[in-house]
Amino acid sequence: MPGRITAVIGAQFGDEGKGKVVDFLAEDADVVVRFNGGANAGHTIKFVPTFAAWGTGQPVEVTTHILPSGILRPNVANVIGRGVVWSPRALLKEMDDIREKGISITRDRLIISDASHLTLPCHEALERAREANPNTKSDTTVRAIGPTYADKAHRTGIRAGDLRHLEYVRERIRQPLTEINAVLAIVYDREPVSSDAVMGALEECRGRLIPFFGDEAEDLNNKLEAGAHVLFEGAQGFMLDIDHGIYPDCTSSSITDGAIQAGAGVSTRHWPARVLGVVKAYASRVGKGHLVAEMPEELSHKLRESAQEYGATTGRPRRLGWFDCMIARHFAQRVRPTGLVITRLDNLTGIDPLKICVGYRTDTGMMPRFFPTTVPELNQCQPILKEVDGWSEDIRGAKEWSQLPKAAQAYVGMISDAYCGAPVNFISTGPERDQIIAL
Ligand code: IMP
Repeated sequence: MPGRITAVIGAQFGDEGKGKVVDFLAEDADVVVRFNGGANAGHTIKFVPTFAAWGTGQPVEVTTHILPSGILRPNVANVIGRGVVWSPRALLKEMDDIREKGISITRDRLIISDASHLTLPCHEALERAREANPNTKSDTTVRAIGPTYADKAHRTGIRAGDLRHLEYVRERIRQPLTEINAVLAIVYDREPVSSDAVMGALEECRGRLIPFFGDEAEDLNNKLEAGAHVLFEGAQGFMLDIDHGIYPDCTSSSITDGAIQAGAGVSTRHWPARVLGVVKAYASRVGKGHLVAEMPEELSHKLRESAQEYGATTGRPRRLGWFDCMIARHFAQRVRPTGLVITRLDNLTGIDPLKICVGYRTDTGMMPRFFPTTVPELNQCQPILKEVDGWSEDIRGAKEWSQLPKAAQAYVGMISDAYCGAPVNFISTGPERDQIIAL
């Protein structure tokens, strides 16, 4: 039997609950792969370990940032693809934290692409300086994602496999260090980062990391030839995509399933592929940038507290908005998901009436047909809100479609319509692994 692919892609601003979805789907997967982004992602998963060697049967809560969520399943292999950027110190800390919870991470369960790019102390220093300055702050997660991808694009980056050759690395870091240190000194009046500090960080970590390095594309294609089910765990969300999202209030990588070939060397055309768009039942975003259908602060505050809408990586409060059909159509047209996973539907219980944003209206009364590309155009947009029925029944933990009140069913139907009729495959009704409706 040929192998197959499932891609899980965030359809809004990240934080849609992809971690839980990937964790759930991983039950039926052989491999889970990260192919984009870096430690800016944060997937929190709650579960009770059922594998005897892993624990006591007590509930465990784990947040992964760089490691694929499949790391929490004993029989699943995990891959960090070449499209991911990561810091050696941060990855080792994450591995240690997870091991402390009794979960083993061995070479047969983790491959890190030789070609993935490393976040170095100089990238971190540059991002810290930028974010500390009100004139250059852009509200990032301060994981140095931008500077690392910038060096990758400048072709002055360091790749994981380079760590096998320390003299080569010492030579190669000269240019990015010289350039970054000049910016640190002249623009930000900050101390330079020494070559010894960078090399020290790399030398301290490389011994423990090198055993995990390999050619992930070779490994994944061989596994697919042998019939594996490979699950691609997208990071962030479509509206943060560097090309399709709201530029410049976006991240530095591609978010769509199109990034899988670049970021892990696997063709989504060759293998039978299922592409799931993960959609939160309302909108949220952290950091600055447009959220056209933002909820009034009072409601936002209430929902943020009841739904614990705080960033998994930075702990920042998430801004909340009504479900936005303009964003839905934007995603549906470009990604063409084979199905949807709706998350956090249970959080909307008690908000009645609900509102949905059915379109935008500009100051001049125009209604854009497509999601505006530029910030000046977005600045002119106001949401057109429509009231829909809410529900008061507690649906937390519902496992059957029939357990949803009629108004919740209608709301789900409306989401599917907004995504150009994409079928809803799953509805998540709570944070636990089994709080999910499969359709
Ligand atoms: P960066 O990716 O850390 O450079 O941050 C750029 C923008 O993307 C900021 O607005 C972040 O808040 C946002 N962002 C990056 N990763 C995530 C994520 O996983 N969830 C939500 N927002 C994110």
